[in-house]
Amino acid sequence: MKKLTDFSNREILIAPSILAADFANLQSEIQAVEVAGAELLHLDVMDAHFVPNLSFGPPVVAALRKHSQMIFDVHLMITNPSHYIMPFQKAGADHITFHIECDESPEVLIPQIRAAGCTVGISLKPKTPLEKVLPYLAQVDLVLVMSVEPGFGGQSFMSGVMPKVKALREAVTAQGLNTQIQIDGGIDIKTAPIAKANGANNLVAGTAVFRYPEGISAAIAALR
Ligand code: DX5
Ligand code: ZN
Repeated sequence: MKKLTDFSNREILIAPSILAADFANLQSEIQAVEVAGAELLHLDVMDAHFVPNLSFGPPVVAALRKHSQMIFDVHLMITNPSHYIMPFQKAGADHITFHIECDESPEVLIPQIRAAGCTVGISLKPKTPLEKVLPYLAQVDLVLVMSVEPGFGGQSFMSGVMPKVKALREAVTAQGLNTQIQIDGGIDIKTAPIAKANGANNLVAGTAVFRYPEGISAAIAALR
């Protein structure tokens, strides 16, 4: 099974978010994105506290793990991520991203996620300046730039975060790192090229994959 670090940050990787999938048919939905070639499965975890919405927890991840070889990319939009690293790792997470705006320190969370054997991501909301995450750049495998306010799928892409993506790509290149630059929120066939042109290589897409009129496999081909 592949790891995130097996990929270059120059390759386009597709990470479908199951938030937009048919929750009554998750097994077939995730098998469809895997057959279509998605490298990651993006799992949006929300606690109705850090964000004003609730999604799912470790039991859903564990149930899906039996049916997929994709890299399980867990996006923790929760207040106390340190309490949930082990439960998600045990459920089958390969990668865990936490938010810089959560109430815990990256100095604690980064080693904790590594000790669990997962790759590490750090995320920032649209209004958070890039400077907040730059000190941790060399310690993480992925930076997730939110292009919507976290909490809900189906929102419009905020092109205003593109300068942040561009500056992030410049910092990663200047430091000679292979950090993945992930973009999440409102990514579709119109906005993906904009994100890519600014330096993103790892594309999260929910609505544009699971609700694409021509079907999942056409959606992934179109995005790529
Ligand atoms: C938002 C989530 C996203 C979301 C993306 O809080 O982090 O992953 O599901 O959904 P779309 O692609 O529909 O904007
Ligand atoms: Zn997400």
